[in-house]
Amino acid sequence: MPNNSILVIDDEEIMREILEALLTREGYAVRMASTAAEGLDLLRAAPFDAAIVDVMLPGMDGIAALNEIKKIDDDLPVLMITAFASVENAIAAMKRGAYDYITKPFKNDEVLVVLRNALAQRRLVAENTALKQNLQAHANRFSEIIGRSSRMRQVFDLIIQAAPSRTTILINGESGTGKELVARALHQNSARAEKPFITVNSGNLPPDLLESNLFGHVKGAFTGAVYPKKGLFELADKGTIFFDEIGNVPLETQAKLLRVIQEREFMRLGGIETIKVDVRIIAATNVDLRHMVEEGKFREDLFYRLHVITVQLPALRERKDDIPLLVQHFLEKYGQENNKRTLEVTPEALDLLFDYDWPGNVRELENVIERAVVLSTGPRIDVDLVPDHVRSSRRFQMPQFVLPPEGISFRDVITDFEKRLIESTLEAAGGVQKRAAELLHIKPTTLNEMIKRHDIRPRRKKSRGDDLDDDEEDAVVEM
Ligand SMILES: Nc1ncnc2c1ncn2[C@@H]1O[C@H](COP(=O)(O)OP(=O)(O)OP(=O)(O)O)[C@@H](O)[C@H]1O
Ligand SMILES: [Mg+2]
Repeated sequence: MPNNSILVIDDEEIMREILEALLTREGYAVRMASTAAEGLDLLRAAPFDAAIVDVMLPGMDGIAALNEIKKIDDDLPVLMITAFASVENAIAAMKRGAYDYITKPFKNDEVLVVLRNALAQRRLVAENTALKQNLQAHANRFSEIIGRSSRMRQVFDLIIQAAPSRTTILINGESGTGKELVARALHQNSARAEKPFITVNSGNLPPDLLESNLFGHVKGAFTGAVYPKKGLFELADKGTIFFDEIGNVPLETQAKLLRVIQEREFMRLGGIETIKVDVRIIAATNVDLRHMVEEGKFREDLFYRLHVITVQLPALRERKDDIPLLVQHFLEKYGQENNKRTLEVTPEALDLLFDYDWPGNVRELENVIERAVVLSTGPRIDVDLVPDHVRSSRRFQMPQFVLPPEGISFRDVITDFEKRLIESTLEAAGGVQKRAAELLHIKPTTLNEMIKRHDIRPRRKKSRGDDLDDDEEDAVVEM
């Protein structure tokens, strides 16, 4: 039993003695006060886990004392002690937030049971608060990485678990899924956070240049090496080094990389001195490294060294429920940058963003929103600000035909189908027949003729800022 501390406020010396003996025997740390004022002083001086307060006190009575106690520590469980005659007082105390009351004369066990419950509840409240703070901290630590989908939650959990260690981490994901963000989050959530985070773009550098970047070189190591140079590994000492697109690292450099991972040491180009570093290595790739291993383009031993912990980032199309959140995030970001702070995306536009497959993932979505914000002239971002390729990607879906047992008229179904297709297309084309004809790959005259035949009524052209209403009086049909 941890040494819970209990404050007792009672003016009767005999009661104080009984309680002190009882509680001390139970292992509690007990402090005594004979007046409310004295008790409050003790409470202000040090935290307690529970208080036992007599209702009948000279000067400030127990109820008033309770009020004051709650001001000092709202969560402190307070047990009121009352003479049988003043149970009403005790009930009043309960209403003001006392934890419970005990009537005199009481049994020792009764006090102990109530106290134990009070302390248990106190612990729960404390744990709950801690948990909430934890959650908040959790959210804050990833403030840059937006996502609430279960896939992203798994990623967050993995980051939290993996960040503190020095284990090498491989981040796998398509382009634009946030690999670099995750690498930074891993660094930020580690003890290395204050130390350097160095990114290596292994991109298109020829091997010797890449190696001199990574490991540095001594003076005269090669033509042009007039000065000695520290490499990125040295610069990243005590911090994190991030290999963006590890798949681009040439085979010969891979061997040297393997050595650094295994031994945490290397030599500068042209040097003889072994340099030791303490770096955390994070690598990212959007290719299937295993496949590269099979093709002999990536060292198998390095692959396994990197593969200790893998963070697999989902493609955006695999976590579409995050799209609205991301849209909101980028809307705020670019709204601020462009001084358009109150922009909204219309539900129709959001629908389009939702239906698109996002091969370029979050980066592509971010670009689309940025473009829309920059181009917007009104308070809303509507379908017209969604780029054509995003709009037209909506997949056409044939209806599922369910035949009634008695059969159905072929001609009627086709006619109905034709009519609905034209109506939908007109809607997608904003009522512009010429555009609708293009979308259906037919001549405008053909479309016009069909519109007449099906008696399709023109719909009002949608324009930004207009409320959609069904008032068709001033409908326009543009050709
Ligand atoms: N979950 C996310 N929340 C907010 N922004 C994100 C998220 N994922 C990616 N982004 C943004 O998308 C862009 C691309 O992210 P990042 O550079 O981390 O992707 P990547 O996986 O490294 O892509 P590539 O393989 O092309 O280098 C950045 O602007 C980043 O801020
Ligand atoms: Mg990247």
